[in-house]
Amino acid sequence: MARPEGLPRVLVCTGKGGVGKTTTAAALGIDAAREGARTLVMSTDGAHSLGDALAVDLHSGPVLVEERLTAEHVSAAHGLSDAWRVVQDYLLGLLGDVGIDPAVAEELTSLPGADEIAALVTLRERVRADEWDVVIVDCAPTAETLRLLALPDSLSWHLRRWLPQGSTWRPAAAAALGVPMPGPAVLEAITRWHDQMTDLKGVLRAPGSTIRLVTTPEKVVTAEARRTWTSLSLFGFTVDAVHVNRIFPTGPDWLSGWNRAQAEGLEEVHRSFTGIPIVAMPYLPEEPIGPDALARLAISCAEVRLTRDRPVGAASTAPLTVTETAQGYTLSVLVPFVAAADVSLGRRGDDLLIDVAGQHRVVTLPAALAPLTVDGAGVRDGRLVVTFARDDRVIA
Ligand SMILES: Nc1ncnc2c1ncn2[C@@H]1O[C@H](COP(=O)(O)OP(=O)(O)OP(=O)(O)O)[C@@H](O)[C@H]1O
Ligand SMILES: [Mg+2]
Repeated sequence: MARPEGLPRVLVCTGKGGVGKTTTAAALGIDAAREGARTLVMSTDGAHSLGDALAVDLHSGPVLVEERLTAEHVSAAHGLSDAWRVVQDYLLGLLGDVGIDPAVAEELTSLPGADEIAALVTLRERVRADEWDVVIVDCAPTAETLRLLALPDSLSWHLRRWLPQGSTWRPAAAAALGVPMPGPAVLEAITRWHDQMTDLKGVLRAPGSTIRLVTTPEKVVTAEARRTWTSLSLFGFTVDAVHVNRIFPTGPDWLSGWNRAQAEGLEEVHRSFTGIPIVAMPYLPEEPIGPDALARLAISCAEVRLTRDRPVGAASTAPLTVTETAQGYTLSVLVPFVAAADVSLGRRGDDLLIDVAGQHRVVTLPAALAPLTVDGAGVRDGRLVVTFARDDRVIA
């Protein structure tokens, strides 16, 4: 199965949101493994539904799903932050020299697209590991995939300008900006990324690396798939098949099976989202295209109709509330379906940094809370509750 040059067969699944990319990637992975290929299915999608599709828990690293099939969610935590820190310190120094406020500089130098870069670095490692015959990548919806696939090109171009060229020891960017030369550790980090991205550029376009477009048989979805094909071709990627998902089979048992499954699914939705309105939208006999058809679909949404003077949401679901207490304040953030173990907190100046199962959120604290100290935090009834105390009341 392995290709002559030792690279695995690399397949990237992309398509519009919700069409079945993850399902297709997982299905192709199972099939390849059962046909004898050592197969890795990796998800670069922050939504991380690959584990759900395969019915395995991928939160703590790669999992052997069955013989020859491994699945993995790529997380941004992948050692990238340490490497970036070296570069960031250099950039912070530069910005500090020209008098930029440290807090602003920190924001300016935080790594853009960190998740995507982590995904690419991991993909390259896996492809070069010589462990797999087939590597399938389950991507986030189209726009993100295009960005992801284009990133090695643009990133290697940008990084090159920070590397010394030929006989000049001074990188073009540093010379042009008249800023101090980056130190060896910075150059080392940039060189490594540059080499990895350049390698990946080649790997993604090598014969045997292809893209699968997943679509459903609806005009709107197909239109996007068509545009994606154009963009991918433009970037030099090969689409070797289009999967049209969710075609209704014909046959008497088919609909009753779905009716049962959907009734159970709907009950589950009601159990899960207590306190907020649930809107059941019918699968219409045809695609709702155009204002009239959309208006007919909107009839089912009357309960949550958007009008100018209608209040938004119920108080119980307000995403963020602040209440004054005897000791200080309590900040409460909606984090449904999360256990305390999945939450970690940090503080950076006036910002509260909340990490919930790998998702980062920065809450800039209101003026009343900013000078106070966090003296407790917990998860209760789907909310993260953080208590702030005035310094003089904090008990060590
Ligand atoms: N052929 C199919 N028949 C029945 N259900 C399907 C089919 N394909 C996908 N589904 C279901 O549709 C839902 C969405 O599928 P999936 O998660 O694979 O889509 P996706 O394109 O990866 O979505 P996202 O854009 O959110 O990543 C899932 O519940 C999945 O089980
Ligand atoms: Mg998906």
